Parts: sequence; structure tokens; C-alpha cells
Amino acid sequence: MIIMVIIFLFLIGSAVILQANSCLEKEISLLPPVNFTIIVTGLSKVLLHWKPNPNQDPKINGIKYKVRINTPNEDDYETQKTQSRSVSVLHQGFSASVQTILHCDSSFFQSSWVSAELPAPPGAPGTSVTNLTCVTNILWGDVSLRCTWFVGRNAPEDAQYFLFYRFDIYTEECQEYRKDSWNRNIACWFPETAIDRKGRGQLAVHVNGSSKQIAIKPLDQLFDLHAIDQVNPPVNVTAKLEGNRLFIQWEKPVSNFPKQCFDYEVNIYNIRRDYSKIQKIQGNSFNLVIDPTCKHSLKIRATVHFSCRKNGLWSEWSQSIYVGKDKPTHLTEWILSALMATACFLLLMLFFICRICQVWTKLFPPIPAPNRKVKDLSLSNIYEKTRSSETEIEVISYVEDPGLDNLDDSVF
Ligand SMILES: *[C@@H]1O[C@H](CO)[C@@H](O)[C@H](O)[C@H]1NC(C)=O
Ligand SMILES: *[C@@H]1O[C@H](CO)[C@@H](O)[C@H](O)[C@H]1NC(C)=O
Ligand SMILES: *[C@@H]1O[C@H](CO)[C@@H](O)[C@H](O)[C@H]1NC(C)=O
Ligand SMILES: *[C@@H]1O[C@H](CO)[C@@H](O)[C@H](O)[C@H]1NC(C)=O
Repeated sequence: MIIMVIIFLFLIGSAVILQANSCLEKEISLLPPVNFTIIVTGLSKVLLHWKPNPNQDPKINGIKYKVRINTPNEDDYETQKTQSRSVSVLHQGFSASVQTILHCDSSFFQSSWVSAELPAPPGAPGTSVTNLTCVTNILWGDVSLRCTWFVGRNAPEDAQYFLFYRFDIYTEECQEYRKDSWNRNIACWFPETAIDRKGRGQLAVHVNGSSKQIAIKPLDQLFDLHAIDQVNPPVNVTAKLEGNRLFIQWEKPVSNFPKQCFDYEVNIYNIRRDYSKIQKIQGNSFNLVIDPTCKHSLKIRATVHFSCRKNGLWSEWSQSIYVGKDKPTHLTEWILSALMATACFLLLMLFFICRICQVWTKLFPPIPAPNRKVKDLSLSNIYEKTRSSETEIEVISYVEDPGLDNLDDSVF
């Protein structure tokens, strides 16, 4: 037994000495890895792999590799393995280098670099989508995903876009798009997804496109799930006014997070004075003094507190509820004043018209007898017309009567 332990210790000791020996050498020449390749293994996901240089002196222990990502974001790290996975957007291409390294006591040895790259996918500039935003929401256990974007400024009218997301090993293509007036997809909705309900990890989104005229450049974007998760709005919001004190109550949103995880924002808007007050609150109720002679609207939104998860988005506002006296609102006030102004204007017009009439009648005083005659004539005129067409000559002769001026006047 003791002999075995001694032999074991001796073996270990000699291994250490062997390694130490290699470090004692002033110059250790390291050869770069061979067959370095980059393979796309999924949306925004690559596998880098390489082989140890077959000509490397096998007596050297403790060889490692240094990987350096050059595009799209610089990053470097060391590994003992001969492969490495990386999550990165790929629409600008991807390039990386690797070298053989050795840390020996206080000295450091390195080989030259070998590089590989994935070219950027083809596409004309300005054709990829812009301002891609995505939001997740959990309702009744299903994580839904909604993404919106703008079409590229150089995208032709016949361009069409397609959205894919990847979460972990699941990749799905969008089935429900919203379109612009040229029928190009500009938003997407997944009612249910494979996304983690706890909102951990990253979501990769890829939007590519096609057109008969030019190649459409794809766009990749990575989202932190906690940052794009939007909780549901608070429910059962109630408010009652006692004197001038307003009491507001609500229930936590439909969510897996417990009650104590939520922060709220209450927005109380004085409709008449066009003034709103926003209050941040942690509990589920709130009260404040308001002017009860003004109508108020109030709404509440929620977010998950950072003690439960990294900060995400605010929920939508709850539906507005109204309190206070139902005094005329701005809109009805406006309509009323508009109506009154119109009425005043009409009255004024009527007044002026009457004045003009008076001036007119003063300038051309009515001649009572012909006037009546004309009236009689016009009556008989109709009568004649209906009776026979032969009398028309007669009618024309009456028209030349000077009393016609008064006929015009009587129109007013
Ligand atoms: C590198 O790749 C070449 C060609 O694919 C192959 O012949 C060679 O065996 C590879 N080298 C190693 C060390 O695997
Ligand atoms: C789109 O994004 C750009 C740059 O991020 C920004 O300047 C611009 O205001 C955004 N456009 C809209 C309409 O939000
Ligand atoms: C868009 O991307 C998906 C997923 O990578 C791919 O299957 C599809 O062929 C691409 N479509 C176009 C038009 O590039
Ligand atoms: C909201 O109110 C309804 C009926 O008043 C009740 O059934 C429901 O449980 C309440 N919701 C919550 C989350 O308390």
C-alpha cells in the first residue's frame, strides 16, 4: 500500500517536473491551430471549431486556445476545448481568429493567429427593416410575442418581409402579419411561443425579405427577455369619492409573479383643468385629495419590481374610470360655444340684411298699385300657362312692365 502511494507520488512529481522543464526553456514555439471553421447552427448562433496543430511538439502540456471575435462585436476569451459556441447577430457578417497559447509560470507563449469569416448576407443598402421592436406578454400561461418594424427606406413596393424568432433550440416563423398599404409585412404576432415563462435568456429575431427588383438585406436582433416582457395591466380598479378624498383600489395583474413583486403608477387627470398627477406606489390602494367639482379620469399601470426580476417594461394602462361631478367637458363646452358663436353670427347677418332691405326700400319706394297688379298677373300667368301656350306672347308683354323691379324686391 505504502509502496503504491510512493509510486503514485513519484509519478505526479515527475509529471510536474516534466511540465516545469518545458517552462524552463526560453523559447517554446507554438504552432497555430488548423482547420478553423465557423458554421451557422441557428438564428444568430455559430459554432467555431478547430484542430490542434498536428506538428505541435506533443511533450508540451497545458496548451490552451485564445478565441477573438472581431465582427460584429469585439470579444476575446480562452478555452481548453477545440470548439466554442457564440450567439451573435450575423447580418453584418461574422469573423473570428484563434491562436494556441501557453501560460507557463510567469511566462506566456502564443502562436500566430488563424482566422475565418462568414460574409455578410447579400442585399442592397437601405432595404433591411429598421426600428425592430418586440414585446412579450404572458396571459393564461402562454407567452405571446409581438414585433413591429418599418420597411427599409429603399425597399421597393413589391418587397416582402418574413420574421423568425429563436429561443434556445426552438425556431418559428411568423404566421400572422399586419401589412402596410403596399401589402408589405410591418408587424407580426405569435399568440403562443416556446419562450421561457420566467423571462430569462435571450431572444434572437431575424427579419429577411424578398423582392423581384433587388436583394433585400436581412436584419438580426437579440433581445434580453426580461427587458421586453410587458406584464398585464392591473385589474378590478375601483374608486370612490368621500367628500374631497378619493380612494382608489386595484388587484395585481394576471401574472405568475406574486403580489409583492409589483410597482404601480397611478395617473389622475383633472379633465376640466387639463392637469394630471402621476404617483408611484407599491401597495394596492391609494388615496388623495381632489377637487370634487371637477371630473377626473384615472388609470393605473404596473411593472415588476427589480427585487423579483431585472427591470422590464411598464404594462399598458388599465381602462380609465371617471370620478367627480359630471360637469361639461372641454369638448361639449367647445361645441356649445361654437353653436352660440354661429347663432350670433346668423343673427348679425339677419340684422344687416334687414338693414340693407330697409335702405333698398327707401331707395326704391314700393308703388302699391302695380305691385298688386304684378302679383295678380303672375297668378294669371300660371293660370294662362296651364291653360294654353298661345297666351305666352301676352305674358312677355307684361314682363316689360316697370313694376317688375318690385317683383325682384319681393323675393327677399
Ligand atoms: C484538415 O482538413 C483537411 C481537409 O478537409 C483534412 O484532410 C485534414 O485531415 C484536416 N486536419 C486535421 C488535423 O483534422
Ligand atoms: C428609428 O430609429 C432611429 C435610430 O434608432 C431613430 O432615430 C428614429 O427616430 C426611429 N424612428 C421612429 C419613427 O421611431
Ligand atoms: C429567411 O430566413 C429563413 C430562416 O433562416 C430561411 O429559411 C429563408 O429561406 C429566408 N428567406 C429569404 C427570402 O431569404
Ligand atoms: C375582479 O372582480 C371579479 C368580480 O368582481 C372577481 O371575480 C375577480 O376574482 C376579481 N379579480 C381579481 C384578480 O381579484
